[in-house]
Amino acid sequence: MIQEIPWWKKTTIYQIYPRSYQDTTGDGIGDLPGIIARLDHIQELGFETIWLSPFFASPQQDWGYDISGYRKIAPEYGRLADAERLIREIHQRDMKVIFDLVLNHSSDKHPWFIESRASRDNPKSDWYIWRTGKGKNHPPNNWKAIPGGSGWHYNPQRDQWYYASFLPFQPDLNWRNPEVKKEMIQVAKYWLDKGVDGFRLDIFHAIYKAEGFQNNPIHWTYIPKEEKYGFFTEWKYTVNQPETIQLAHELRQVFDQYQPHRFMIGEIFGQDEIIKKYLGDGSQGMHSIFLWDLMEFKLKAEFFWRVLQQYETEYPSPLTPVLVLGNHDSRRWIDRVKGDLDKAKLIALLQLTARGIPVVYYGEEIGLPEGDIPAREALDPVGQRYAWAPDWLLDLFGLYVNRDNCRTPMAWDRSQKAGFTDPDVDPWLPLSADPAAANVKDQLEDPGSILNWYRTLLRFRQATPALHAGTLQLLPRSLTQKGLLGFIRKFEDQAYGILINMSATPAPASLPGTQIEIQAGQISLTENSILVGGYSGCVVKLSEKDTSN
Ligand code: GLC
Repeated sequence: MIQEIPWWKKTTIYQIYPRSYQDTTGDGIGDLPGIIARLDHIQELGFETIWLSPFFASPQQDWGYDISGYRKIAPEYGRLADAERLIREIHQRDMKVIFDLVLNHSSDKHPWFIESRASRDNPKSDWYIWRTGKGKNHPPNNWKAIPGGSGWHYNPQRDQWYYASFLPFQPDLNWRNPEVKKEMIQVAKYWLDKGVDGFRLDIFHAIYKAEGFQNNPIHWTYIPKEEKYGFFTEWKYTVNQPETIQLAHELRQVFDQYQPHRFMIGEIFGQDEIIKKYLGDGSQGMHSIFLWDLMEFKLKAEFFWRVLQQYETEYPSPLTPVLVLGNHDSRRWIDRVKGDLDKAKLIALLQLTARGIPVVYYGEEIGLPEGDIPAREALDPVGQRYAWAPDWLLDLFGLYVNRDNCRTPMAWDRSQKAGFTDPDVDPWLPLSADPAAANVKDQLEDPGSILNWYRTLLRFRQATPALHAGTLQLLPRSLTQKGLLGFIRKFEDQAYGILINMSATPAPASLPGTQIEIQAGQISLTENSILVGGYSGCVVKLSEKDTSN
């Protein structure tokens, strides 16, 4: 009997940043009823799973990634009944929904922290990571925070320091305290019991810190990007601890108790060998983990060839790579192709036909432009930290600091506020562009739009086992010299070739194509060869005879 493929392996994920999707109350802030009102858009496109960034109770210092009540909804987004209805409505449309679980830290306004910091001996005193320093100005050790600066913060009430992996108002929970661990697993179960199909796990790699609180090593030589803070400090004792890897495996057991099985997608940073420890053999451990390589893509066949090759080598089936190009923390990738929608179509073609779980960030489907808000005006707390820095300096170091720019409101139509909020209301962040340039309504009516391109690809992927469940075999690297990226997806006797020309010059590939299924740009098919025009791409059906081996 053929083993059934789990839903999450073949799914496609659409990420929503709730604050920016659809406002229904006229306060300029997106909300849960707004998301419900737009579910048809997402279903129509053909996405199968929706991931929502946090909408839980929060003082909104990091726009929801600072939680003050894990079972409560922030009032500006709606009420618990709205979250329950959202889950129901998504399921009624035959889609899945995953929430964002911030296990590493809470807000410093969470009642747990308020209690914890009040004294050294209250019931919650050990719920966070407290250490006595070497005096008021000397933190316990050299541990840094991910966005820079020391991770330790002095608290006069306890005359002690607490550790925060991210910003000072996001104190790290102490997972070595069994009460904390139990409570956080209860939080996950609370939402799973309500029907949520899984979670995206925020900075999961940071959850446990080394018990010995040793200083992190400083090297004056090269340290890979995935292993350091700033330039010289290796994050040896603060992330990817064995206990964190063990926790992924424990959570899997919790998730597997549910039917159908629930799913985890981890935000983890580390080298491939670390990532693979979390993933286990695919049947235990974390289901999937974001891989970041595509986020920094260059429109070059050679670049994509290398990344896909790496994924096939490091994460062969039954592991499933995650194909992600953008999220609420990074510059919109449309900027990498300078807003050129023909080129953007090629990137979408790759993301939705390669082997893996594609994760698309809201707005990518219409080519929503990146905003242009300077760091000195940032609402984003990371952006605010760089308010002093001139743009040229940030550009010089390639730093993306003001995340407001990738979080601007979704554009639904060409009206004044893009249909996001009422025409006379100012959205919480300004629109990134004139809505006439990119909006859902206009693009729906245009068969050649990028929106309809996503729709075509998503639907084809969903209906085609070779694409959502098949193997991937790269065509020879030598083709990349002609600007051509090519691969074959196969499932049983079904085979498709994907060819993407990332150069301006037409390039031939010898493939036994029998039929063009999907195309962007110029494609011509002869008996044993396909000519792919400049910046063009296609999916072709391959004859069974020639591809079976
Ligand atoms: C993750 C989130 C980011 C947030 C941070 C702290 O990286 O994606 O938006 O600011 O964690 O929770």
